[in-house]
Amino acid sequence: MANTVCVIGAGQMGTGIAQTALAAGWSVQVVDAFDSAFARSKSVIDKGLAKWAEKGLIDAEIAGNPALSYHSAIEQTSPAMLYIEAASEQLDIKLDIFRALDHHAPRDALLCSNTSSISITTLAAATSRPASVVGMHFFNPVPLMKLVEVIPALQTARTATERVISIAEAWGKTAVEAKDSPGFVSNRVLMPMINEAIGCLHEGVASAEGIDQIMHLGMAHPMGPLALADLIGLDTCLSILNVLHNGFGDPRYRPSPLLKQMVDAGYLGKKVGRGFYHYEG
Ligand SMILES: NC(=O)c1ccc[n+]([C@@H]2O[C@H](COP(=O)([O-])OP(=O)(O)OC[C@H]3O[C@@H](n4cnc5c(N)ncnc54)[C@H](O)[C@@H]3O)[C@@H](O)[C@H]2O)c1
Repeated sequence: MANTVCVIGAGQMGTGIAQTALAAGWSVQVVDAFDSAFARSKSVIDKGLAKWAEKGLIDAEIAGNPALSYHSAIEQTSPAMLYIEAASEQLDIKLDIFRALDHHAPRDALLCSNTSSISITTLAAATSRPASVVGMHFFNPVPLMKLVEVIPALQTARTATERVISIAEAWGKTAVEAKDSPGFVSNRVLMPMINEAIGCLHEGVASAEGIDQIMHLGMAHPMGPLALADLIGLDTCLSILNVLHNGFGDPRYRPSPLLKQMVDAGYLGKKVGRGFYHYEG
């Protein structure tokens, strides 16, 4: 059971987390409620590992024969020492997953969530072992981004937080701790900027390209806020803003009506080929 992780959610983040763990020599099981996610996830991981092996960053054996399997339910997985939930940013989905993990995972396992904003304390309270629940917040694209924001719940044992920090570091990441507060630090700071950029677009202050160029060239951001929103996923951005708005009760976090419209239209960003921009393939 040593160095085994079960990742729940085979979307962009679950796939990136799985690739990162494999590259560090871990065995990985990935669970998704929709089997349709598996082929894309496997192909992304195979390509990513092959590229790293070519550059000599990982063993060719890991790339050629990754210790990776896909499952339709948590109950189908074998025991792991670490579980990372990376399913859609919706409280009811995450609560169901944490209840299932509580039922199925070994008692000494760490139960982590990659949520962008949802209370880790609430997720921990859905289990009979809240001391083992920790927020382990990766960034997109996971194989490239160095940060893991580590969020202990109110009930989390210090030893559990420290184990998560040392795993993040063993996977080549830098762990930074933040308290369990809506959006933690990263999204509490980032999302109001993205929301304001969407507000500017909605009011016609500038075009999408114009807004992104201003922030990219003027503020030295690696990409503009609208391109970043597309990369994150507009559904995820909307969910995070709703958590901030409800959590603080402050109108400054109210999601832009244009963001809601984009999500209603199914324009969820890069992952579906259309958001504020169009994407080929
Ligand atoms: N996209 C980002 O930039 C980013 C960054 C950090 C954290 N996150 C967080 O990571 C999580 C996943 O985001 P994503 O961008 O990978 O989303 P995504 O839409 O790409 O993937 C979500 C996956 O969860 C699966 N899923 C839904 N319900 C499920 C269930 N009950 N059981 C198992 N799988 C289920 C979906 O089928 C999908 O494959 C969210 O909590 C999000 O807030 C996202």
